[in-house]
Amino acid sequence: MMKNDTAPRVTGETYFFRDHGQFDLLRLCLLPELIKRRRGAKMLRLWSAGCSSGEEAYSLAMLVDMLLPKRDGWDILILGSDIDQTALEKARRGRYGQWSFRMVSPSLQQQYFKRQGDEWVLDERIRRMVTFRAGDLIGEVISGGELRDMDLIVCRNVFIYFAADAVAAVAEKLAGALSEGGYLMTGHTELIGHRVPNLQCRLFVEGVVHQRGSPRPAAPSPLIRITPSSPAVAQHMPCLLPPVIPTGEELLATAREVADRGEYDQAEQICHQALAVAPLAAGSHFLLAQLAQLRGDFKRAEELLDKTLYLDPGCVAAYLELAALCERAENLPRAQSMRRAALDIVRALPGDAAIEPYETTAAEMAQWLVR
Ligand SMILES: C[S@@+](CC[C@H](N)C(=O)[O-])C[C@H]1O[C@@H](n2cnc3c(N)ncnc32)[C@H](O)[C@@H]1O
Repeated sequence: MMKNDTAPRVTGETYFFRDHGQFDLLRLCLLPELIKRRRGAKMLRLWSAGCSSGEEAYSLAMLVDMLLPKRDGWDILILGSDIDQTALEKARRGRYGQWSFRMVSPSLQQQYFKRQGDEWVLDERIRRMVTFRAGDLIGEVISGGELRDMDLIVCRNVFIYFAADAVAAVAEKLAGALSEGGYLMTGHTELIGHRVPNLQCRLFVEGVVHQRGSPRPAAPSPLIRITPSSPAVAQHMPCLLPPVIPTGEELLATAREVADRGEYDQAEQICHQALAVAPLAAGSHFLLAQLAQLRGDFKRAEELLDKTLYLDPGCVAAYLELAALCERAENLPRAQSMRRAALDIVRALPGDAAIEPYETTAAEMAQWLVR
């Protein structure tokens, strides 16, 4: 059930607090919500599925330690599982090289680790919070036993190694291991295109999280922006922030920033969130068109640019991008008519009008187009 030869080779690549956005979401929203929900029962069950050498599971343990420093009387399970026994042995030792800390602030590293030669040794209290077990997510029957009633399952960068039918089967099994209202967090694009029974998507700027059922069925699925507002939050102290509903424009601005950083998959995902809020926003279609071009999907890019122009017939950039695509496809008559349309628009504008997203004015653009 693994993918064929073209599939990525399985690696155990991992590090502490991998993906800041997702860990912010866990620290500022999901874990505080779960802790609050479980305060009565004093029970919390977290699972890092495909944990490799343990960094992800221990990152969860550190978050629990920050968010729930006094946990006497709590029954907390933090489970790490993997198919790779060698990785699990390393996980159990709790000793790591500097490379595992590439996304960790020195203060957090020093708070939870002690240096011994070339290695950093995890605080014994945190090491003891995590239990590791071997397991094959594809072959294993996940029902009952330890693997049940999970409040949170983090299974990231694991589905990428599976064929589509295995992705669906494993996602369904993991959904079955969640408690009502429990969360499944995957890598950003890993469940795109899969509808998993019993799971609902909850959209956050930091990405999509899948939730089993809903503890409050009447509540709409919120679109929440986590806004770390103080240096303390930006470091690693727990802080509950009120959810803010972002507008389509804000989401689009975030998508542009993320795209500028070269994180194209995430940018695309945020763009889709922007469109979920504001389906008629030409700018979101335009950004998706640019991302499609970067992926080499020129047909899709053309469709998206046509949509952009349908929604905003004055979008000079969309005409010019379309002209370039038509030239590429050797459709010179259409390329020419796209340029002419762009020229007509810029000529009708005041000379000093800015032409987005280019750093140029209408007058300069008109000059360039008649050359
Ligand atoms: C790239 S690592 C991801 C580690 C961590 N989740 C992260 O995102 O940093 C992928 C892990 O998935 C594990 N894995 C691959 N196939 C698996 C399977 N069928 N069952 C359980 N683990 C599997 C690999 O052994 C490897 O440790």
